[in-house]
Amino acid sequence: MPDLRLRARGRRTTLPPGSRLPAIVQTALLVRDPIGRLERCERRYGPVFRVRMVGAPRRAYVTDPVLAREILTSDEAGALVGEARRDVVEQLVGEHSLVTVDGDEWLRRRGLVAPAFKRQNVEQLQSDIAALARAHIDRWPIGEAFALRTAVRAITMEVIVELVVGSADASRLDRLRNLLPKVMDAYASPVLWLFPGAMRVRGVLRSTPGPLRRFLRLRDELDALLYEEIEARRAASDEDRRDVLSRLMASRDDQGPAMSDIELRDEVVGLLVAGHETTATALAWAFERLSRSPDVLARLRAELDEGSDDRYLEAVVKETLRARAVGLDAPRLLSRPLTVGAYVLPAGWYVTPVLPLVQRAADGRDEFRPDRFLQPGAATRAWMPFGAGKRHCVGSHLALLEMKVVIREILRALDLESVDAAPEGIKLHHVTLVPSEPARVRATRREQVSRSSP
Ligand code: HEM
Repeated sequence: MPDLRLRARGRRTTLPPGSRLPAIVQTALLVRDPIGRLERCERRYGPVFRVRMVGAPRRAYVTDPVLAREILTSDEAGALVGEARRDVVEQLVGEHSLVTVDGDEWLRRRGLVAPAFKRQNVEQLQSDIAALARAHIDRWPIGEAFALRTAVRAITMEVIVELVVGSADASRLDRLRNLLPKVMDAYASPVLWLFPGAMRVRGVLRSTPGPLRRFLRLRDELDALLYEEIEARRAASDEDRRDVLSRLMASRDDQGPAMSDIELRDEVVGLLVAGHETTATALAWAFERLSRSPDVLARLRAELDEGSDDRYLEAVVKETLRARAVGLDAPRLLSRPLTVGAYVLPAGWYVTPVLPLVQRAADGRDEFRPDRFLQPGAATRAWMPFGAGKRHCVGSHLALLEMKVVIREILRALDLESVDAAPEGIKLHHVTLVPSEPARVRATRREQVSRSSP
């Protein structure tokens, strides 16, 4: 086993082992079965290996938890996080989003955005989220199969729209809620994000029918809608508004110049995109796992019915994010050579933990066992579904709260049964790992449900 400490030095590069298959074949294998492919690489080459992807810089994947955390928290490795993400998300969120900026610009933006997502602030939303979830759950079909991922996505989207955009003209908000999932689904076509260069020749491709034209049309609609909202807000300035967009519009002078319309648009889209599909997918996985783990489900139900504290519910949420990490990776683009274990990676390479494999490495088992989060141990130390370091997920408290509240409300009202008994496969949907059958369930209403708020 190589020395897994990480050191940044100006040494000659020594590359980790990896497949010699052409980039196009490696990309296809990864898209078809991301976890299976990376597990096979890990078995063959060890905890640090290289992979080639079409149209992207060379990359090294890491599956060792200690090394993974060191990479995420290392300044050398983290210098160009925004740039590393730009390759895959810029066409959707733009170059001015918290997700895609670096350096001083990032620091200023994080300072503006983070307060709205602090634990104390999001906890105040608990009863609003519960009421919203109840209103949605009451409309779910009874006795018929439906995709839980789509159903919970409507809840998480309303939450993030409320937080980021707040109140606005009702028809504009409706259009926004309707458009956003369509833009994101259109962008999930691998043709688009695997070949980002293709989008830059918009003139030619705009006229060619296909996924690119559809995406560009929907994105233009979304942009027009947001610019309309920004303009309306400038015209009727209201200093009491607490939503993130209004705070961003009000920030200037000592914090820097006022943000332009394009910067505001990119920030809002970045937060809306990062802030709802991820949480909805995690919720879908929670029920996919719970319905295949009857003992865990029975204990959780019993604890919720008895009104016990949240400890077991929180352990279920954490175990879901461990056993089925929503993000595949958290890439860092190296600004300088970096020693990773026995290897020295050159500047210009990506290095990234494979989050699902890092988290599984702690005890090597895929068993769904929330108990492991009731005492600190190897699994809790390897837990990093929200990344780590300065660029860790700004919305982690909101995501955890939403998951707890929505799971509680669903279990209070319904019994959910999976349509297929077999575990669902793990599929890459743009940058998230989703259940292959969008967590298809059938609901029955529970009797004598307690409706008291938490
Ligand atoms: C279960 C749900 C979620 C998961 C699994 C998740 C995961 C992640 C991961 C892995 C990263 C990259 C961290 C790194 O590179 O070290 C990230 C970044 C980010 N997430 Fe989340 N996220 C979730 C929910 C949310 C929510 C609700 C928001 C709300 C706005 C959000 C906003 C962001 C933003 C803005 C970043 C970039 C932060 C920066 O670079 O400063 N995420 N998230």
